Amino acid sequence: MADSFDLVVIGTGPGGYVCAIRAAQLGLKVAVVEKNGTFGGTCLNIGCIPSKALLHASEEFEKAAHHFAELGIEIGAPKLNLPRFMAFKDEGVEGNVKGVEFLLKKNKVTAFRGVGRIAGPGKVEVSGEGGKQAIETRAIVIATGSDVTRLPGIEIDEKTIVSSTGALKLAKVPGKLVVIGAGVIGLELGSVWRRLGAQVTVVEFLDRITPGMDGEISKNFQRILKKQGMEFLLSTKVTKVEKQKGGLKVTVEPAQGGEAKTLDADVVLVAVGRVPFTDGLGLDEAGVRRDDRGRVEVDDHFQTNIPGIYAIGDVIRGPMLAHKGEDEGVAVAEIIAGKAGHVNYDVIPNVIYTSPEVASIGKTEEELKQAGIAYKTGKFPFTANGRAKANKTTEGFVKFLADAKTDRVLGCHIIGTNAGELIHEVAVLMEFGGSSEDLARTCHAHPTLAEAVKEAALAVEGRAIHM
Ligand code: FAD
Ligand code: NAI
Repeated sequence: MADSFDLVVIGTGPGGYVCAIRAAQLGLKVAVVEKNGTFGGTCLNIGCIPSKALLHASEEFEKAAHHFAELGIEIGAPKLNLPRFMAFKDEGVEGNVKGVEFLLKKNKVTAFRGVGRIAGPGKVEVSGEGGKQAIETRAIVIATGSDVTRLPGIEIDEKTIVSSTGALKLAKVPGKLVVIGAGVIGLELGSVWRRLGAQVTVVEFLDRITPGMDGEISKNFQRILKKQGMEFLLSTKVTKVEKQKGGLKVTVEPAQGGEAKTLDADVVLVAVGRVPFTDGLGLDEAGVRRDDRGRVEVDDHFQTNIPGIYAIGDVIRGPMLAHKGEDEGVAVAEIIAGKAGHVNYDVIPNVIYTSPEVASIGKTEEELKQAGIAYKTGKFPFTANGRAKANKTTEGFVKFLADAKTDRVLGCHIIGTNAGELIHEVAVLMEFGGSSEDLARTCHAHPTLAEAVKEAALAVEGRAIHM
């Protein structure tokens, strides 16, 4: 007889495993299905965690090479041990994926290893090493995540023409790295290899980097990355990548067409976005609807057009972010358990883990203008912050956008050291519908970088103290 559950989650990325744990906490009998050898999905195995480990290690390397002397620490030129550097990353991944395995066991979630296929409402079939297994369930959550977007004619071999997956494990530092796409992956992983010695050129189709980010922040970000040695070819498209003796030849031309030129490269990183992953799931046979971008269509309660089949994370609409998937996982588990699960999409932080970091939440200035919403701006530079001055980490600024009439905070954008941590006090503020004055009147410890956030909030009413 088939095993029977209240809920079967297909995929154990941040969306899936969090959903399984929350559902188990609420007393449901839960199973997960995972085709990969380890749990944790893209994020833990080939995404957030390994990329952040490499960003951390390469930042320390760059500090040792260029900044320690300024602090009076003389160590000579640091030497890179790339195998050890990669082992550091792998240990971080291992610790995290084992953590998920432990949590699933602790919460008594049953794990099936293999490819999950929806064999009809309430029916999942798992194809694993031991053959096929049928599972019966009251509800199914699709949490199968996303995959790399490929460019026609440019074949990724994960050795010299790589996606983020190959770029996380290059066997040596490339002399020349060409990155296609000035989005999050291109700039994070481009930073890693530049710090280790690669000459990095980023080719971007649009006329700006990080589309979607507040324009003023984006301009400053590009200026800072340029100063660090990253080169940009904006409004440019890659038309060909050819393998030749001793490397690659990359042909580029203006985005709107025009004269072509070539660039030499040792490695090309294709980082032009990700697409929802639904291969082998049996969605068409099950009648589950997808939109024109291949995303599983869901309603406000994460339910697809087929009752009892839900979807969350990268495979549905919205930003492809781990924490967005996690929150959806919690919400859908609560909904399935008969509670009122909900995700506030207006308050989802977005962080780029470069140096300095870039963090944002809520609306950009461009979005407010387009929506015709009257707003006030408050800005404060880290050059005027005591802690940043003492540490000589003065690059960047904090920018608040508040409703012109009510002062309710509508967005906040930070470029600077630890921006990814600083953004969260604004997240809490916005979750409570707070005003810039609420934050400005909150006592902040001195000396902290967070004081720059408070000062930017004060600046909304033109009353920053240290500026
Ligand atoms: P995934 O994490 O993709 O997990 C899906 C899982 O489903 C996988 O384990 C897969 O094996 C499994 N699966 C798929 N189909 C089946 C099937 N039929 N049967 C069984 N199992 C199946 N986001 C951030 O928020 N912060 C970051 O710093 C960040 N860094 C990133 C860096 C890189 C290089 C990349 C590529 C992504 C990064 N992301 C980051 C994005 C983040 O990884 C994703 O948003 C997140 O992993 C999505 O979670 P998910 O649960 O929807 O899917
Ligand atoms: P992205 O969507 O961030 O950026 C892709 C870039 O490529 C865009 O600037 C786009 O204009 C450009 N582009 C598209 N086609 C092109 C072409 N043919 N030629 C040149 N440029 C082209 O996608 P990316 O960087 O691949 O990341 C994928 C997803 O992973 C993102 O949605 C992001 O949410 C997630 N991610 C999040 C991270 C974080 O939160 N720190 C880190 C890494 C990834």
